[in-house]
Amino acid sequence: MKILGIETSCDETAVAIYDGDPATGRGELLAEQVASQIETHARFGGVVPEVASREHLVALPAMVTSILAETELSWNQIDHIAVTSGPGLMGALLVGTSYARAAGLVHNIPVAPVHHMEGHLLAPGLAGLLPEFPFITLLVSGGHTQLVRVDRIGSYRVIGQTLDDAAGECFDKSARLMGLPYPGGPEIAMLAKGGDAKRFKLPRPMLNKDNLDFSFSGLKTAVMYAVKNAGGIDAFDQQMMKDMAAAIEASVSEVLVKKSIRACIREDAPRLVIAGGVAANHTLRHTLFNLAEKKGVEVHLPHPKHCTDNAAMIAYAGFQHLCAGISAPDEWDATPRWPLTA
Ligand code: KG4
Ligand code: ZN
Repeated sequence: MKILGIETSCDETAVAIYDGDPATGRGELLAEQVASQIETHARFGGVVPEVASREHLVALPAMVTSILAETELSWNQIDHIAVTSGPGLMGALLVGTSYARAAGLVHNIPVAPVHHMEGHLLAPGLAGLLPEFPFITLLVSGGHTQLVRVDRIGSYRVIGQTLDDAAGECFDKSARLMGLPYPGGPEIAMLAKGGDAKRFKLPRPMLNKDNLDFSFSGLKTAVMYAVKNAGGIDAFDQQMMKDMAAAIEASVSEVLVKKSIRACIREDAPRLVIAGGVAANHTLRHTLFNLAEKKGVEVHLPHPKHCTDNAAMIAYAGFQHLCAGISAPDEWDATPRWPLTA
């Protein structure tokens, strides 16, 4: 069964074709394409919603034509369309959902809406099989930092979350304080490679609180004061930039990893998935592997290219719904705010 996945919730236009067998739950990704708008938005320091919608509108039809050509498939060989219907930017979501609906009507293909974060949390399945249920997922993106207990496909319970900024937002805002372009996460990750994480002392917010929640706005403020106390960003040489980047990575990674492992132990579910853009971070991945092994927690990480926004995860989530017998609701629409558990 061939599933066309479409993702346009934010600043990446993405399409993918997944070929799976619902009887076995197995399949393979045939092709995927991602067109990033990052360069367009970087000069504004963040995503401009109107600009994002217009770019999706131009890119999406051509990308679908191109992926069909790449896989040598025609529309009548596509069995199903899975499209991100939320959460995200309203205009951007509407481009994807309207296109999917129109294509579905014209070619007589069923269309199913997919929750963007569900796509992220199932993404490790693209590299093989999903972990055994129940498992814990840490969802860390630009807008989300949540610990989710997954009992089966479609059954998600948020057991911890950020009280203020998301981890990705903390990277992006800290990067901005350091004069780095948007998005800040990859910029900080690149700099941190040659950095000494111990030179600047940054806090580990909420680590010692006996709960599964996070808070990252104070960390960004701590970065601001650390920069100020060292004479301002103009006084920073390249090594200081690297050391500050390493300190930020170390702080975010330690808090995320320790709390995620705590969640696995508390929930008696020693299987952990980390997904979302921040899960592409190598320091986070290393910290996680080291600590999880010591604590007897099994780790499942998507390939870094399937951590950031993509359509392979959307096609795969659509496939998993089919395997689980979850059908699309009779009525659905683009939903910019949509809790995972509703
Ligand atoms: O999942 P995603 O691509 O988009 C959202 O749905 O938000 O996540 C984007 C976020 C941004 O905040 C970006 O700075 C962060 O993920 N990010 C990273 C890395 N790559 C992307 N953060 C840290 N290290 C990375 N390598
Ligand atoms: Zn995302």
